[in-house]
Parts: sequence; structure tokens; C-alpha cells
Amino acid sequence: MEGGNKIIAALVLGIWLMGLGSNAQLNSTFYASTCPNVSSIVSGVIQTALQSDARIGASLVRLHFHDCFVQGCDGSILSDNSASIQSEKDAAPNTNSARGFDVVDNIKTALENSCPGVVSCADILAIAAEASVSLAGGPTWSVLLGRRDSTTASQAGANTSIPSPFETLSNITTKFTNVGLSTTDLVALSGAHTFGRAQCRTFSNRLYNFSGTGSPDPTLNSTYLATLQQTCPQNGNGSIVTNLDLTTADTFDNNYYSNLQNNNGLLQSDQELFSTSGASTISIVNSFSSSQSTFFSNFAQSMINMGNISPLTGSSGEIRTDCKKVNGS
Ligand code: HEM
Ligand SMILES: *[C@@H]1O[C@H](CO)[C@@H](O)[C@H](O)[C@H]1NC(C)=O
Ligand SMILES: *[C@@H]1O[C@H](CO)[C@@H](O)[C@H](O)[C@H]1NC(C)=O
Ligand SMILES: *[C@@H]1O[C@H](CO)[C@@H](O)[C@H](O)[C@H]1NC(C)=O
Ligand SMILES: *[C@@H]1O[C@H](CO)[C@@H](O)[C@H](O)[C@H]1NC(C)=O
Ligand SMILES: *[C@@H]1O[C@H](CO)[C@@H](O)[C@H](O)[C@H]1NC(C)=O
Ligand SMILES: *[C@@H]1O[C@H](CO)[C@@H](O)[C@H](O)[C@H]1NC(C)=O
Ligand SMILES: *[C@@H]1O[C@H](CO)[C@@H](O)[C@H](O)[C@H]1NC(C)=O
Repeated sequence: MEGGNKIIAALVLGIWLMGLGSNAQLNSTFYASTCPNVSSIVSGVIQTALQSDARIGASLVRLHFHDCFVQGCDGSILSDNSASIQSEKDAAPNTNSARGFDVVDNIKTALENSCPGVVSCADILAIAAEASVSLAGGPTWSVLLGRRDSTTASQAGANTSIPSPFETLSNITTKFTNVGLSTTDLVALSGAHTFGRAQCRTFSNRLYNFSGTGSPDPTLNSTYLATLQQTCPQNGNGSIVTNLDLTTADTFDNNYYSNLQNNNGLLQSDQELFSTSGASTISIVNSFSSSQSTFFSNFAQSMINMGNISPLTGSSGEIRTDCKKVNGS
């Protein structure tokens, strides 16, 4: 290498190392000495909650998703309104929809009892997501940890960055790309709709007058359409819920993808993954439908990818004592 190039290479390496120092990587042993039982404590609280609410695991997975897509995985979704915070809980994708906040508080209380001031609320969401998937029969993975909690939130960001079920596949793909996630991540993570519920208002546009055509969404399976019309009468109560997965409601499996192949996807955004002609997502759906283990390993990797979106590390942010509030406020 010529002399000048060596100096440039050394400078580039130095800047890269400085970058690592100020933006430390997450790792799976972050709490090994400070809170060794963190995983079992989180899992224990979720197991108790599942006894009275079969849906709670799904709700917790969704909280991690909605946290990570806004300012990164920083616990911003958990902050209530205050003088300095316009809560993300009131943003369009979350209001009257995001749930599980009380269970997050119970987890935080249990952790503060065992290891006070140590585990961030952002990490609680990441650990709870893995525990919930695994307790529902899905894959397990080694959760990367070391996130810290934001002292800010962005309701505007939640309104614009979280995908809507009424968007096109192309728009949703852009929202994933914006946070560094791929089309494969999109298809794998959408598989979280293998459990949990959705309210009529999130899909009833498909049942009666789809895009102003005066008819239902033509891609919707006619048997499923009839069932959904029973559950969600025209101009009825939009808050009624139904299972996202019509085959195995509370089990984490790959039936979500065979549902799509049968035109039994509940949300428009689900069915588009299989029914958008020419889309690269179709072959990924087929591959996850034909192999549960392929889906599970991709889902685990994509959850790690999502969990890596812009975490606060090192001395950035804080470890909240109460997940609902910035410390000292
Ligand atoms: C790809 C774009 C996505 C869209 C448009 C979308 C949209 C929705 C909607 C509309 C609901 C129903 C909410 C309600 O009716 O209150 C829902 C539920 C849910 N979503 Fe998604 N979602 C997407 C991706 C994801 C991802 C990436 C995950 C997690 C990795 C996820 C996990 C869940 C879960 C588990 C539920 C059920 C929650 C519960 O029962 O409380 N979703 N989603
Ligand atoms: C995990 O990350 C923390 C914070 O960056 C660091 O102190 C610790 O040494 C890391 N552990 C391993 C095994 O890399
Ligand atoms: C950690 O959990 C194990 C069982 O899961 C228990 O035996 C042990 O006492 C716990 N340790 C602490 C420090 O809580
Ligand atoms: C976010 O959307 C909600 C619901 O549509 C709206 O009430 C709120 O004003 C919006 N907030 C911001 C900051 O754009
Ligand atoms: C998709 O994105 C484009 C460009 O941002 C926007 O004009 C359009 O309204 C979006 N479509 C939907 C259905 O949200
Ligand atoms: C369907 O919606 C369009 C506009 O959204 C409206 O003009 C039309 O009258 C509706 N058709 C029926 C049958 O309700
Ligand atoms: C609509 O359904 C929800 C959920 O089942 C229920 O809590 C609410 O009371 C219903 N509202 C009306 C006006 O019937
Ligand atoms: C509709 O769904 C059923 C299973 O619920 C399936 O047997 C059938 O093939 C589906 N029809 C279409 C056209 O996809």
C-alpha cells in the first residue's frame, strides 16, 4: 500500500473504532452479573398473565415492534403524557389498540425488586417478545441486550413510521427499508400475525365496499368472508376483535403463511404479501409455508434485526425506574 493510502486507511479504521465506542453493540450477556435471572423473571410474569389472558403474549410482541419503529428500540412507546412527552400511546396505530402496558409494569416491578435500577424498559420489551413467542410454541433465540431508555418520545413518528393495514405492499416495504429491514424481514415478522387479535375496524373495509367498488375485496376467501361478515356487521361495532390466525389462534406456528395461500389473510397488508402479482414476497411466503423450521429461524433472526434498530447504549438515555415516566419527572 502506498504511504498516503496507509494514513487514510488508519484514519478510517480509527473513525470506525470511535463509532463502535460511542455506539456499543448489544450482547446477550449484558445482565449476566447484574441481573442473572432477568429472563426467568420476565417469563414468570408473562406466564401468570397468560392464565387470564391468552392474547397477552401477542400484545407484548407488538409493543416491541411499535417501540422499535419509532426512534429505535428505546422504550419510547411506554412513556405516558407529561410536560415534556406527547405520548406515543395516543398515536393512530396505538390508541385503543396497543395493550399489555400493565404487564410491562408488573415485569418492571418484579425486576426492580430483584435488581433495582438495572434492566431498561426497552430491554424488557425485547425479552418479553422472545418469551411470549417461545411460550406460544414458537422459536427461542438469544436476545441481545444493553438498550437504554429514551427521555423523549415521538407521537408524530409513531403516526408516520408504523405501517398501516390499509397501505400498499410497496408503502409498507418502504417503512421497513427506512429502519434497515429487508423484504425477508417484512415477510418473516408479519408471521407474528400467527397469534393475537385484530379489531373489525382494521379490516372491515375489505368486507363490504373495498376501495369504493361496492363489493368485498375479491382476493378474500369467500368462506372466510362470510364468517367475517358475521363477526363484523356493516357499520357495526369496530372494536369487536377476531383472531388474526383463523386456524390456530394462540399458537405460534407457520399456519399464517398457508392461510395467505388460501386467501385467508385477515388484514389487507397480510394478504398483499401473497396476492400482489409479481411481488418478491410470494416466494418467501411459499417457503415459510412449506417449512416451519425455515420460518422459525428467519423469524428469530428478523426479531434480532428489528431489536437492533438504533438502540441507546453506553451512557445515552437512562434506565427508567418506572417504565411510564422519565426518571425524576
Ligand atoms: C407489516 C406491517 C404490519 C401491519 C400493517 C400490522 C398491523 C396490525 C394491526 C392493524 C393489528 C390489529 C390491531 C388492532 O386491531 O387493535 C395488528 C396486530 C398485531 N400485530 Fe401487526 N402489523 C404489522 C406487522 C407486525 C409485526 C412486524 C409484528 C411483530 C413482529 C406484529 C405483531 C402483531 C401482533 C402480535 C398483533 C396482535 C396483537 C394483540 O392481539 O394484541 N405486526 N397488527
Ligand atoms: C456486552 O456489552 C457491554 C456493554 O457494551 C460490555 O460491557 C460487555 O463487556 C459486553 N459483553 C460481552 C461478552 O461482549
Ligand atoms: C434465579 O432463579 C433460580 C431459578 O430459576 C433460583 O433458584 C435462584 O434463586 C434465582 N436467583 C436469584 C438471585 O434470584
Ligand atoms: C397522531 O395521530 C393522532 C390520531 O390520528 C392525532 O390525534 C394526533 O394529533 C397525531 N399526532 C401528531 C403529533 O401528529
Ligand atoms: C403510499 O405512499 C405514497 C407516497 O408517499 C403516498 O402518496 C400514498 O398515499 C401512500 N398510499 C397509501 C395507501 O398509504
Ligand atoms: C362504496 O364507497 C364509495 C366511495 O367510497 C361510494 O361512492 C359508494 O356509494 C359505496 N357503495 C356502496 C354500495 O356502499
Ligand atoms: C364495542 O365492542 C367492544 C368490544 O367488545 C365493547 O367493549 C364495547 O362496549 C362495544 N361498544 C358498543 C357501543 O357496543
Ligand atoms: C378457502 O379456504 C379454504 C380453507 O379455509 C380452502 O380449503 C380453500 O381452498 C380456500 N379457497 C381459495 C379460493 O383459496
